[in-house]
Amino acid sequence: MSLENFAIEYRKTMSSFATGVTVVTTLDENEFIHGMTANSFTSVSLDPPTVLVCIGHTRNTITHVNNTNEFAINILSDKQKHIADYFAKEQAIGVKPLELNWSIKYGSPFIEGSIAFIKAKVIQKYNHGDHAIVLGEVQGIDTQEGNPLLYYQSNYLFVPNSS
Ligand SMILES: Cc1cc2nc3c(=O)[nH]c(=O)nc-3n(C[C@H](O)[C@H](O)[C@H](O)COP(=O)(O)O)c2cc1C
Repeated sequence: MSLENFAIEYRKTMSSFATGVTVVTTLDENEFIHGMTANSFTSVSLDPPTVLVCIGHTRNTITHVNNTNEFAINILSDKQKHIADYFAKEQAIGVKPLELNWSIKYGSPFIEGSIAFIKAKVIQKYNHGDHAIVLGEVQGIDTQEGNPLLYYQSNYLFVPNSS
């Protein structure tokens, strides 16, 4: 199989793993929210509470994570598909999406309406291939009512019988 065909098959295979959808948020150099849609988020350990997210070396997010040494995970609700779409594209710096309400929680940007929020301090970073595995020790958590947005085979899905 050619490298190109393998890449297509590999992406297709991995897309069979259904996940929730998060936006990794950081503050940029203007103390403005920067977000990146991500589904590589995982809980690693309870003691100490540790999470990880894999961030591509070419993403703007890795620069902000390196600069601030922290990040937050916003777990999106089924009403936030437009936010997932927005943050899956590169942001022009300083441009605020029209309908995004955000505030600062535990020192990091919180996207209002997310069903869970996890603030983490970077404790370790491993570079592997085209991504960095970023480990963060959890410093603050919050949950809200709502149903999750799901992602499966490159499509957003909703929990059956939810709104
Ligand atoms: C559902 C979904 C999940 C994604 N997960 C990741 C991820 O885990 N890590 C990553 O680096 N990019 C991921 N991406 C791609 C980024 O969201 C996209 O490259 C974004 O434009 C990066 O923004 P930035 O360069 O401003 O940081 C994902 C995209 C989608 C649609």
